Amino acid sequence: MSEIKLPEVELNIYSKKEPVEVTVVENHVATKDSSPNFVRHITFDISGTELVDNIKVGQSLGVLPPGKDERGRPHKLRLYSVSSPSSGEKGKKHLISTTVKRTVEELESKIYLGVASNYLADLKPGDKVKVTGPSGRRFLLPENAKDFNYIFFATGTGIAPFRGMIQELFEQDYQNECVLVFGCPYRTDLLYADFFEEMDQNKIKFHYLPCISREDRREDGSKYYVQTMLDERNDLLAPILAKDNTLIYICGMKGMETGIYLQLLSQGFKDYLEIRKELPENLNDIPKDKFKRFIKPSVRVFEEVY
Ligand code: A2P
Repeated sequence: MSEIKLPEVELNIYSKKEPVEVTVVENHVATKDSSPNFVRHITFDISGTELVDNIKVGQSLGVLPPGKDERGRPHKLRLYSVSSPSSGEKGKKHLISTTVKRTVEELESKIYLGVASNYLADLKPGDKVKVTGPSGRRFLLPENAKDFNYIFFATGTGIAPFRGMIQELFEQDYQNECVLVFGCPYRTDLLYADFFEEMDQNKIKFHYLPCISREDRREDGSKYYVQTMLDERNDLLAPILAKDNTLIYICGMKGMETGIYLQLLSQGFKDYLEIRKELPENLNDIPKDKFKRFIKPSVRVFEEVY
């Protein structure tokens, strides 16, 4: 396998104490249809800041919402993954995008709106936002990105970095195989669906596998989750996984990674895993909270779950 060499990246050019102001240029829904999972694609103009040329896809930006919490303290910084390629949104290096889901929680019959996500989602073109960063030095495409095949697993807004990474790969003369497995509850929640459907049709090396957990059922009645595609689309995925220059990227809800590792293990793809302890006969007996004491991802797997 080619060596996996991650690029050197800039970190925290702008800190919480000294953030930089960027300007919103675009803010629109990223879902296929109107959905109660409100997800928006937001683009910032970073002209005149040191973020230009210094932020790589896979990294995040910190957002500082204005105002104070109920105890009078400034609101906490929140990190958002960049969803544009390193070359910038629409090929313009002064534009970077992110993907934001409005967080809404019901507690004791009252609705609570997440501060940062709803602040961002309400912004209009021309509004200014204080940001920090870049942050993140591991969840990146390798320097020699074209030398690898990729299987990207995303749930929900975990798709953000992959939108940028996939654009970045296909901006180059990319000849390897690239698969995006995306999980969401309903069809209306598919993110950037037109873009990925079009890519799937136009690029023979790109494959888009959406899994709709609450609408479709597998033959045995179980839900479609991203990890079930390892079984369901074994015809496509197994030959790619068997190649020694394939990398796996996982981004989204915490817990999705264990399902993927167990499927890889049951299919014998041990190169993606590090087995650290003797495994119980029934893999479902591995305690969920101690999973990584038994099975860890290998250097061929990049994981960002939250
Ligand atoms: P479900 O909620 O039907 O159980 P979103 O972030 O938009 O809510 O989407 C998250 C998606 O991930 C949903 O389709 C959700 O399914 C699915 N999901 C939930 N638990 C897991 C898991 N352990 N592994 C993989 N996918 C999961």
